[in-house]
Amino acid sequence: MRKIKNILVTGGAGFIGSNFIHYLFNDTEFDGRIINADKLTYAGNLENLTEINKKHEGKRYFFEKADICDYNAIELLFRKYDIDTVIHFAAESHVDRSIHGPRDFIETNINGTFCLLENARAFWGDRDDVLFHHISTDEVFGSLGETGFFYETTPYDPRSPYSASKASSDHLVRAYNHTYNLPVTLSNCSNNYGPYQFPEKLIPVMILNIKEKKPLPVYGDGRNIRDWLYVNDHNSAAWAIINKGKTGETYNIGGENEWENIKLVNSLCEKVARFLKKDTDYYKKLITFVKDRPGHDRRYAINCDRIKSELGWKQSVDFDAGLDRTIEWYLNNQRWIDNVRSGEYKKWMEKNYSKR
Ligand code: NAD
Ligand code: DAU
Repeated sequence: MRKIKNILVTGGAGFIGSNFIHYLFNDTEFDGRIINADKLTYAGNLENLTEINKKHEGKRYFFEKADICDYNAIELLFRKYDIDTVIHFAAESHVDRSIHGPRDFIETNINGTFCLLENARAFWGDRDDVLFHHISTDEVFGSLGETGFFYETTPYDPRSPYSASKASSDHLVRAYNHTYNLPVTLSNCSNNYGPYQFPEKLIPVMILNIKEKKPLPVYGDGRNIRDWLYVNDHNSAAWAIINKGKTGETYNIGGENEWENIKLVNSLCEKVARFLKKDTDYYKKLITFVKDRPGHDRRYAINCDRIKSELGWKQSVDFDAGLDRTIEWYLNNQRWIDNVRSGEYKKWMEKNYSKR
Protein backbone atom coordinates (compact mmCIF):
# COMPACT_ATOMS: atom_id res chain seq x y z
CA MET A 1 0.00 0.00 0.00
CA ARG A 2 1.17 3.56 -0.80
CA LYS A 3 2.42 5.51 2.23
CA ILE A 4 0.53 8.79 2.48
CA LYS A 5 2.46 11.51 4.25
CA ASN A 6 0.82 14.82 3.37
CA ILE A 7 -2.78 14.90 2.21
CA LEU A 8 -4.31 18.07 0.80
CA VAL A 9 -8.03 18.21 1.55
CA THR A 10 -9.73 20.87 -0.57
CA GLY A 11 -13.01 22.18 0.82
CA GLY A 12 -12.22 20.73 4.24
CA ALA A 13 -14.34 23.34 6.01
CA GLY A 14 -17.51 22.26 4.20
CA PHE A 15 -19.98 19.56 5.15
CA ILE A 16 -18.35 16.40 3.77
CA GLY A 17 -14.77 17.71 3.88
CA SER A 18 -14.94 18.58 7.59
CA ASN A 19 -16.52 15.20 8.37
CA PHE A 20 -13.67 13.61 6.37
CA ILE A 21 -11.06 15.33 8.55
CA HIS A 22 -12.87 14.13 11.69
CA TYR A 23 -13.02 10.67 10.14
CA LEU A 24 -9.26 10.61 9.43
CA PHE A 25 -8.43 11.54 13.03
CA ASN A 26 -11.05 9.42 14.75
CA ASP A 27 -11.62 6.36 12.60
CA THR A 28 -8.41 5.58 10.73
CA GLU A 29 -4.79 4.73 11.44
CA PHE A 30 -3.60 7.62 9.27
CA ASP A 31 -0.59 9.28 10.95
CA GLY A 32 0.48 11.83 8.32
CA ARG A 33 -0.31 15.53 7.95
CA ILE A 34 -3.65 16.94 6.83
CA ILE A 35 -3.67 20.25 5.00
CA ASN A 36 -7.12 21.78 4.70
CA ALA A 37 -7.33 24.34 1.87
CA ASP A 38 -10.62 26.20 1.82
CA LYS A 39 -11.75 29.58 0.53
CA LEU A 40 -14.41 29.79 3.28
CA THR A 41 -17.36 30.66 1.08
CA TYR A 42 -20.80 30.89 2.71
CA ALA A 43 -20.62 27.07 3.01
CA GLY A 44 -17.20 26.83 4.62
CA ASN A 45 -17.27 26.96 8.40
CA LEU A 46 -14.24 26.47 10.60
CA GLU A 47 -16.53 25.87 13.56
CA ASN A 48 -16.99 22.40 12.05
CA LEU A 49 -13.39 21.72 13.07
CA THR A 50 -13.05 23.43 16.46
CA GLU A 51 -11.94 20.29 18.31
CA ILE A 52 -9.50 19.20 15.60
CA ASN A 53 -8.06 22.68 15.50
CA LYS A 54 -7.54 22.77 19.28
CA LYS A 55 -5.84 19.39 19.40
CA HIS A 56 -3.88 19.19 16.17
CA GLU A 57 -3.36 22.61 14.51
CA GLY A 58 0.30 23.18 13.70
CA LYS A 59 1.18 19.55 14.46
CA ARG A 60 -0.68 17.19 12.16
CA TYR A 61 -3.42 19.54 10.97
CA PHE A 62 -2.97 22.79 9.03
CA PHE A 63 -5.65 25.15 7.80
CA GLU A 64 -4.85 27.35 4.80
CA LYS A 65 -7.38 29.86 3.52
CA ALA A 66 -6.99 29.46 -0.23
CA ASP A 67 -9.03 29.65 -3.40
CA ILE A 68 -8.50 26.57 -5.58
CA CYS A 69 -8.75 28.86 -8.63
CA ASP A 70 -5.61 30.73 -7.51
CA TYR A 71 -2.72 28.91 -9.22
CA ASN A 72 0.04 30.58 -7.21
CA ALA A 73 -1.64 30.01 -3.86
CA ILE A 74 -2.10 26.31 -4.62
CA GLU A 75 1.45 25.98 -5.96
CA LEU A 76 2.72 27.36 -2.67
CA LEU A 77 0.77 24.74 -0.73
CA PHE A 78 2.09 21.84 -2.81
CA ARG A 79 5.64 23.05 -2.14
CA LYS A 80 5.24 24.09 1.48
CA TYR A 81 3.72 20.78 2.57
CA ASP A 82 5.23 18.45 -0.04
CA ILE A 83 1.75 17.19 -0.93
CA ASP A 84 1.62 13.55 -2.10
CA THR A 85 -2.17 13.02 -2.06
CA VAL A 86 -5.10 15.26 -2.89
CA ILE A 87 -8.72 14.63 -1.99
CA HIS A 88 -10.72 17.23 -3.84
CA PHE A 89 -14.02 18.15 -2.18
CA ALA A 90 -14.04 21.92 -2.79
CA ALA A 91 -17.00 22.94 -4.92
CA GLU A 92 -20.11 24.98 -5.13
CA SER A 93 -22.50 22.20 -4.18
CA HIS A 94 -26.10 23.41 -4.06
CA VAL A 95 -28.28 22.79 -7.13
CA ASP A 96 -30.77 25.61 -6.35
CA ARG A 97 -27.96 28.14 -6.13
CA SER A 98 -26.58 26.93 -9.46
CA ILE A 99 -29.95 27.72 -11.03
CA HIS A 100 -30.04 31.24 -9.58
CA GLY A 101 -26.38 32.01 -10.30
CA PRO A 102 -24.25 29.50 -12.24
CA ARG A 103 -21.10 31.64 -12.55
CA ASP A 104 -19.41 30.56 -9.30
CA PHE A 105 -20.11 26.93 -10.19
CA ILE A 106 -18.26 27.23 -13.48
CA GLU A 107 -15.43 29.10 -11.83
CA THR A 108 -14.82 26.83 -8.83
CA ASN A 109 -15.98 23.46 -10.08
CA ILE A 110 -14.37 23.64 -13.53
CA ASN A 111 -11.58 26.21 -13.40
CA GLY A 112 -10.72 25.36 -9.80
CA THR A 113 -10.37 21.67 -10.63
CA PHE A 114 -8.29 22.55 -13.70
CA CYS A 115 -6.00 24.71 -11.56
CA LEU A 116 -5.50 21.88 -9.03
CA LEU A 117 -4.77 19.39 -11.80
CA GLU A 118 -2.24 21.73 -13.39
CA ASN A 119 -0.50 22.14 -10.06
CA ALA A 120 -0.48 18.41 -9.37
CA ARG A 121 0.96 17.73 -12.82
CA ALA A 122 3.67 20.38 -12.45
CA PHE A 123 4.65 19.41 -8.90
CA TRP A 124 4.49 15.63 -9.26
CA GLY A 125 5.96 15.26 -12.75
CA ASP A 126 5.91 11.56 -13.62
CA ARG A 127 5.80 10.25 -10.05
CA ASP A 128 3.55 7.25 -9.58
CA ASP A 129 3.55 7.19 -5.76
CA VAL A 130 1.07 10.09 -5.60
CA LEU A 131 -2.70 10.34 -6.06
CA PHE A 132 -5.39 12.87 -6.95
CA HIS A 133 -8.79 11.67 -5.75
CA HIS A 134 -11.73 13.58 -7.20
CA ILE A 135 -15.02 13.66 -5.31
CA SER A 136 -17.99 13.82 -7.63
CA THR A 137 -21.70 13.23 -7.70
CA ASP A 138 -24.27 10.82 -9.13
CA GLU A 139 -26.02 13.87 -10.65
CA VAL A 140 -23.63 13.73 -13.63
CA PHE A 141 -25.60 10.71 -14.88
CA GLY A 142 -28.85 12.64 -15.28
CA SER A 143 -32.24 11.41 -14.16
CA LEU A 144 -33.76 7.91 -13.99
CA GLY A 145 -37.31 6.71 -14.62
CA GLU A 146 -39.05 4.37 -12.21
CA THR A 147 -36.52 1.59 -12.70
CA GLY A 148 -32.81 1.16 -13.34
CA PHE A 149 -29.59 2.33 -11.72
CA PHE A 150 -26.55 4.48 -12.43
CA TYR A 151 -23.46 2.34 -13.09
CA GLU A 152 -19.87 3.54 -13.50
CA THR A 153 -20.41 3.02 -17.22
CA THR A 154 -23.64 5.02 -17.51
CA PRO A 155 -23.20 7.81 -20.09
CA TYR A 156 -23.08 11.32 -18.65
CA ASP A 157 -26.24 13.42 -19.00
CA PRO A 158 -25.99 16.35 -16.56
CA ARG A 159 -29.05 18.59 -16.46
CA SER A 160 -28.34 21.46 -14.04
CA PRO A 161 -25.51 24.00 -14.08
CA TYR A 162 -24.22 22.27 -10.92
CA SER A 163 -24.15 18.78 -12.41
CA ALA A 164 -22.81 20.07 -15.75
CA SER A 165 -19.92 21.75 -13.92
CA LYS A 166 -19.19 18.57 -11.95
CA ALA A 167 -19.37 16.47 -15.13
CA SER A 168 -16.91 18.84 -16.73
CA SER A 169 -14.51 18.48 -13.82
CA ASP A 170 -14.79 14.67 -13.98
CA HIS A 171 -13.84 14.78 -17.67
CA LEU A 172 -10.84 16.98 -16.92
CA VAL A 173 -9.61 14.62 -14.20
CA ARG A 174 -9.87 11.63 -16.56
CA ALA A 175 -8.20 13.59 -19.34
CA TYR A 176 -5.20 14.32 -17.09
CA ASN A 177 -4.87 10.64 -16.34
CA HIS A 178 -5.19 9.61 -19.97
CA THR A 179 -3.01 12.34 -21.46
CA TYR A 180 -0.38 12.98 -18.78
CA ASN A 181 -0.55 9.74 -16.76
CA LEU A 182 -1.49 11.73 -13.66
CA PRO A 183 -2.45 9.14 -11.04
CA VAL A 184 -6.12 9.80 -10.33
CA THR A 185 -9.18 8.06 -8.94
CA LEU A 186 -12.77 9.32 -8.99
CA SER A 187 -15.95 8.64 -7.07
CA ASN A 188 -19.56 9.53 -7.83
CA CYS A 189 -21.74 9.52 -4.75
CA SER A 190 -25.43 9.92 -3.97
CA ASN A 191 -27.05 12.32 -1.44
CA ASN A 192 -25.19 12.63 1.87
CA TYR A 193 -26.68 13.57 5.23
CA GLY A 194 -25.27 14.03 8.72
CA PRO A 195 -23.86 16.70 11.05
CA TYR A 196 -22.46 20.01 9.76
CA GLN A 197 -24.58 20.00 6.59
CA PHE A 198 -25.42 23.54 5.60
CA PRO A 199 -29.10 24.25 6.31
CA GLU A 200 -30.07 24.77 2.69
CA LYS A 201 -30.17 21.05 1.82
CA LEU A 202 -33.35 19.00 2.27
CA ILE A 203 -32.70 17.16 5.56
CA PRO A 204 -31.37 20.05 7.69
CA VAL A 205 -33.95 22.45 6.22
CA MET A 206 -36.73 20.10 7.27
CA ILE A 207 -35.34 19.32 10.75
CA LEU A 208 -34.93 23.01 11.56
CA ASN A 209 -38.25 24.10 10.07
CA ILE A 210 -40.06 21.36 11.98
CA LYS A 211 -38.39 22.46 15.20
CA GLU A 212 -39.24 26.11 14.50
CA LYS A 213 -42.79 25.29 13.34
CA LYS A 214 -42.20 26.87 9.94
CA PRO A 215 -43.67 25.65 6.61
CA LEU A 216 -41.92 22.58 5.18
CA PRO A 217 -41.35 23.44 1.49
CA VAL A 218 -41.67 20.32 -0.67
CA TYR A 219 -40.84 20.94 -4.34
CA GLY A 220 -43.35 19.90 -7.03
CA ASP A 221 -45.37 16.78 -6.20
CA GLY A 222 -42.81 15.55 -3.67
CA ARG A 223 -42.35 12.28 -5.54
CA ASN A 224 -38.76 12.86 -6.67
CA ILE A 225 -36.47 10.14 -5.37
CA ARG A 226 -33.02 10.43 -3.84
CA ASP A 227 -30.65 7.75 -2.51
CA TRP A 228 -29.38 8.71 0.97
CA LEU A 229 -26.02 7.84 2.53
CA TYR A 230 -24.61 8.80 5.94
CA VAL A 231 -21.66 11.13 5.41
CA ASN A 232 -19.11 8.91 7.18
CA ASP A 233 -19.97 6.06 4.86
CA HIS A 234 -19.10 8.31 1.93
CA ASN A 235 -15.84 9.16 3.64
CA SER A 236 -14.92 5.56 4.43
CA ALA A 237 -15.55 4.75 0.77
CA ALA A 238 -13.33 7.60 -0.43
CA TRP A 239 -10.60 6.48 1.99
CA ALA A 240 -10.86 2.89 0.70
CA ILE A 241 -10.46 4.17 -2.87
CA ILE A 242 -7.46 6.33 -1.95
CA ASN A 243 -5.77 3.37 -0.29
CA LYS A 244 -6.84 0.45 -2.44
CA GLY A 245 -8.47 1.83 -5.60
CA LYS A 246 -7.11 1.25 -9.08
CA THR A 247 -5.47 4.29 -10.65
CA GLY A 248 -7.52 5.83 -13.44
CA GLU A 249 -10.73 4.20 -12.22
CA THR A 250 -14.10 5.46 -11.06
CA TYR A 251 -16.19 4.03 -8.22
CA ASN A 252 -19.87 4.65 -7.55
CA ILE A 253 -20.83 5.17 -3.91
CA GLY A 254 -24.40 5.04 -2.64
CA GLY A 255 -26.72 4.14 0.18
CA GLU A 256 -28.93 1.68 -1.73
CA ASN A 257 -31.57 3.60 0.17
CA GLU A 258 -34.11 5.30 -2.09
CA TRP A 259 -36.74 7.62 -0.65
CA GLU A 260 -39.45 9.76 -2.17
CA ASN A 261 -38.99 13.27 -0.77
CA ILE A 262 -42.50 13.43 0.63
CA LYS A 263 -42.10 10.11 2.47
CA LEU A 264 -38.81 11.29 3.92
CA VAL A 265 -40.33 14.59 5.08
CA ASN A 266 -43.21 12.72 6.74
CA SER A 267 -40.75 10.43 8.46
CA LEU A 268 -38.72 13.43 9.68
CA CYS A 269 -41.92 14.94 11.13
CA GLU A 270 -42.51 11.72 13.08
CA LYS A 271 -38.93 11.45 14.27
CA VAL A 272 -38.50 15.08 15.33
CA ALA A 273 -41.90 14.98 17.09
CA ARG A 274 -40.68 11.97 19.05
CA PHE A 275 -37.52 13.80 20.10
CA LEU A 276 -39.46 16.90 21.13
CA LYS A 277 -42.29 14.86 22.67
CA LYS A 278 -44.81 16.76 20.53
CA ASP A 279 -47.73 15.87 18.27
CA THR A 280 -46.67 14.49 14.86
CA ASP A 281 -49.87 15.60 13.09
CA TYR A 282 -49.21 19.23 13.96
CA TYR A 283 -45.86 19.05 12.13
CA LYS A 284 -47.25 17.17 9.15
CA LYS A 285 -49.71 19.99 8.61
CA LEU A 286 -46.73 22.29 8.02
CA ILE A 287 -45.92 20.42 4.78
CA THR A 288 -46.37 22.91 1.92
CA PHE A 289 -46.05 21.97 -1.73
CA VAL A 290 -44.16 24.79 -3.49
CA LYS A 291 -43.18 25.59 -7.06
CA ASP A 292 -40.91 22.89 -8.47
CA ARG A 293 -37.16 23.31 -9.00
CA PRO A 294 -36.62 24.04 -12.73
CA GLY A 295 -35.32 20.90 -14.47
CA HIS A 296 -35.75 18.89 -11.26
CA ASP A 297 -34.22 15.43 -11.75
CA ARG A 298 -36.83 12.79 -10.97
CA ARG A 299 -34.90 9.86 -9.56
CA TYR A 300 -31.34 8.97 -8.63
CA ALA A 301 -30.30 5.41 -7.77
CA ILE A 302 -26.77 4.12 -7.52
CA ASN A 303 -25.40 0.69 -8.21
CA CYS A 304 -22.31 0.41 -6.01
CA ASP A 305 -21.49 -3.27 -6.53
CA ARG A 306 -18.04 -2.41 -7.84
CA ILE A 307 -16.65 -0.74 -4.71
CA LYS A 308 -18.25 -3.46 -2.61
CA SER A 309 -16.77 -6.38 -4.51
CA GLU A 310 -13.39 -4.87 -5.46
CA LEU A 311 -12.54 -2.86 -2.34
CA GLY A 312 -14.64 -4.60 0.32
CA TRP A 313 -16.47 -1.39 1.28
CA LYS A 314 -20.01 -1.39 2.58
CA GLN A 315 -22.40 1.07 4.25
CA SER A 316 -22.26 0.87 8.03
CA VAL A 317 -24.96 3.29 9.22
CA ASP A 318 -28.57 2.33 8.63
CA PHE A 319 -30.95 5.15 7.70
CA ASP A 320 -33.07 5.01 10.81
CA ALA A 321 -30.09 5.30 13.15
CA GLY A 322 -28.33 7.85 10.91
CA LEU A 323 -31.37 10.11 10.82
CA ASP A 324 -31.77 9.91 14.61
CA ARG A 325 -28.11 10.81 15.05
CA THR A 326 -28.48 13.73 12.63
CA ILE A 327 -31.68 15.05 14.22
CA GLU A 328 -30.07 14.91 17.67
CA TRP A 329 -27.06 16.82 16.36
CA TYR A 330 -29.19 19.63 14.89
CA LEU A 331 -31.34 19.82 18.02
CA ASN A 332 -28.26 20.06 20.25
CA ASN A 333 -26.18 22.54 18.27
CA GLN A 334 -28.18 25.74 18.29
CA ARG A 335 -25.08 27.95 18.49
CA TRP A 336 -23.69 26.44 15.27
CA ILE A 337 -27.05 27.01 13.59
CA ASP A 338 -27.31 30.63 14.77
CA ASN A 339 -23.79 31.39 13.59
CA VAL A 340 -24.33 29.82 10.20
CA ARG A 341 -27.59 31.66 9.75
CA SER A 342 -26.20 35.06 10.65
CA GLY A 343 -23.72 35.00 7.75
CA GLU A 344 -23.91 35.32 3.99
CA TYR A 345 -26.37 32.44 3.91
CA LYS A 346 -29.03 34.52 5.58
CA LYS A 347 -28.73 37.36 3.10
CA TRP A 348 -28.93 34.96 0.16
CA MET A 349 -31.90 33.09 1.59
CA GLU A 350 -33.74 36.33 2.25
CA LYS A 351 -33.17 37.53 -1.29
CA ASN A 352 -34.10 34.29 -3.03
CA TYR A 353 -36.65 32.63 -0.82
CA SER A 354 -38.58 35.47 0.82
CA LYS A 355 -41.37 35.34 -1.79
CA ARG A 356 -42.13 31.64 -1.45
P1 NAD B 1 -20.29 22.20 0.85
O1 NAD B 1 -20.95 23.24 0.00
O2 NAD B 1 -20.82 21.91 2.20
O3 NAD B 1 -18.75 22.58 1.05
C1 NAD B 1 -17.95 23.04 -0.01
C2 NAD B 1 -16.66 23.58 0.59
O4 NAD B 1 -15.82 24.03 -0.51
C3 NAD B 1 -16.86 24.80 1.51
O5 NAD B 1 -16.07 24.66 2.67
C4 NAD B 1 -16.38 25.97 0.66
O6 NAD B 1 -15.87 27.05 1.43
C5 NAD B 1 -15.31 25.31 -0.19
N1 NAD B 1 -15.06 26.04 -1.44
C6 NAD B 1 -15.97 26.47 -2.34
N2 NAD B 1 -15.36 27.13 -3.35
C7 NAD B 1 -14.03 27.08 -3.09
C8 NAD B 1 -12.88 27.56 -3.76
N3 NAD B 1 -12.97 28.24 -4.91
N4 NAD B 1 -11.65 27.34 -3.22
C9 NAD B 1 -11.55 26.65 -2.04
N5 NAD B 1 -12.59 26.20 -1.36
C10 NAD B 1 -13.83 26.40 -1.87
O7 NAD B 1 -20.25 20.91 -0.05
P2 NAD B 1 -20.37 19.37 0.35
O8 NAD B 1 -21.79 19.01 0.40
O9 NAD B 1 -19.50 19.11 1.51
O10 NAD B 1 -19.76 18.68 -0.96
C11 NAD B 1 -18.37 18.41 -1.06
C12 NAD B 1 -18.08 17.72 -2.39
O11 NAD B 1 -18.82 16.52 -2.47
C13 NAD B 1 -18.48 18.54 -3.60
O12 NAD B 1 -17.49 18.36 -4.59
C14 NAD B 1 -19.79 17.94 -4.05
O13 NAD B 1 -19.98 18.09 -5.44
C15 NAD B 1 -19.58 16.49 -3.67
N6 NAD B 1 -20.80 15.70 -3.36
C16 NAD B 1 -21.69 16.17 -2.43
C17 NAD B 1 -22.80 15.38 -2.10
C18 NAD B 1 -23.80 15.84 -1.06
O14 NAD B 1 -24.81 15.19 -0.88
N7 NAD B 1 -23.57 16.94 -0.36
C19 NAD B 1 -22.98 14.14 -2.73
C20 NAD B 1 -22.05 13.71 -3.69
C21 NAD B 1 -20.96 14.50 -3.98
O1 DAU C 1 -27.04 13.38 -5.49
C1 DAU C 1 -25.92 14.02 -4.95
C2 DAU C 1 -26.21 15.50 -4.78
O2 DAU C 1 -27.12 15.62 -3.69
C3 DAU C 1 -24.95 16.33 -4.52
O3 DAU C 1 -24.12 16.26 -5.65
C4 DAU C 1 -25.32 17.79 -4.22
O4 DAU C 1 -24.15 18.52 -3.89
C5 DAU C 1 -26.28 17.82 -3.06
O5 DAU C 1 -26.70 19.14 -2.84
C6 DAU C 1 -27.49 16.92 -3.33
O6 DAU C 1 -28.31 17.51 -4.41
P1 DAU C 1 -29.91 17.50 -4.33
O7 DAU C 1 -30.42 18.55 -5.23
O8 DAU C 1 -30.44 16.12 -4.52
O9 DAU C 1 -30.09 17.88 -2.77
P2 DAU C 1 -31.14 18.85 -2.04
O10 DAU C 1 -30.97 18.61 -0.57
O11 DAU C 1 -31.05 20.24 -2.53
O12 DAU C 1 -32.54 18.27 -2.48
C7 DAU C 1 -32.91 16.93 -2.23
C8 DAU C 1 -34.29 16.71 -2.83
O13 DAU C 1 -35.24 17.45 -2.04
C9 DAU C 1 -34.44 17.24 -4.24
O14 DAU C 1 -35.34 16.38 -4.94
C10 DAU C 1 -35.08 18.61 -4.07
C11 DAU C 1 -35.94 18.43 -2.83
N1 DAU C 1 -36.11 19.61 -1.95
C12 DAU C 1 -34.99 20.25 -1.52
C13 DAU C 1 -35.09 21.34 -0.67
C14 DAU C 1 -33.85 22.08 -0.20
C15 DAU C 1 -37.37 19.98 -1.51
O15 DAU C 1 -38.39 19.38 -1.88
N2 DAU C 1 -37.47 21.03 -0.65
C16 DAU C 1 -36.38 21.74 -0.22
O16 DAU C 1 -36.54 22.72 0.58
